[in-house]
Amino acid sequence: MTESPIKTAEQIENLKGLLTPIAEREPGPVLLCLQAVQTHYGYVPEGAVAVVAEVCNVTRADAHGVFSYYSDLRKTPPPLISVRLCAAEACQAVGGRALAAAWGEACAADPNLAGATGTDEPVFCLGNCALGPAALVNDQLIGNVSVEALKSAVAAAQNAAEASL
Ligand code: FES
Repeated sequence: MTESPIKTAEQIENLKGLLTPIAEREPGPVLLCLQAVQTHYGYVPEGAVAVVAEVCNVTRADAHGVFSYYSDLRKTPPPLISVRLCAAEACQAVGGRALAAAWGEACAADPNLAGATGTDEPVFCLGNCALGPAALVNDQLIGNVSVEALKSAVAAAQNAAEASL
């Protein structure tokens, strides 16, 4: 996915068309509109926050405040394959930090792995605490995860992505 800032009049009008029904239907729609932008583009492109502010009738500072508060709202396009390791307490208690360090080393040692997965923010509890450490590879939840399990899940996700092209 390439970055595509919202700059042209046509891009702005298209985005307003996407967001106006949300802003008219929902109270306090800034977060919902930002989530809609991310669902549509995969991230929140440069320029989109200003459109959200206009459609929601709030200041750009207010909209930017919401945007910067929620770490799940992406500023850049997502990697081809998203790998998110749980960093919450239950997973830390069963080796989550060691796993994160080992995963970082595996990515550093394998440029293909790092290039495919990019760098994603940790996540704080995936609701799979009893099977920690837990991870999310794209939409696949993995429990009792190891570096080898992550590599297998990434390979499966790469195969699925290639098959869908
Ligand atoms: S603490 Fe990791 S899944 Fe809940």
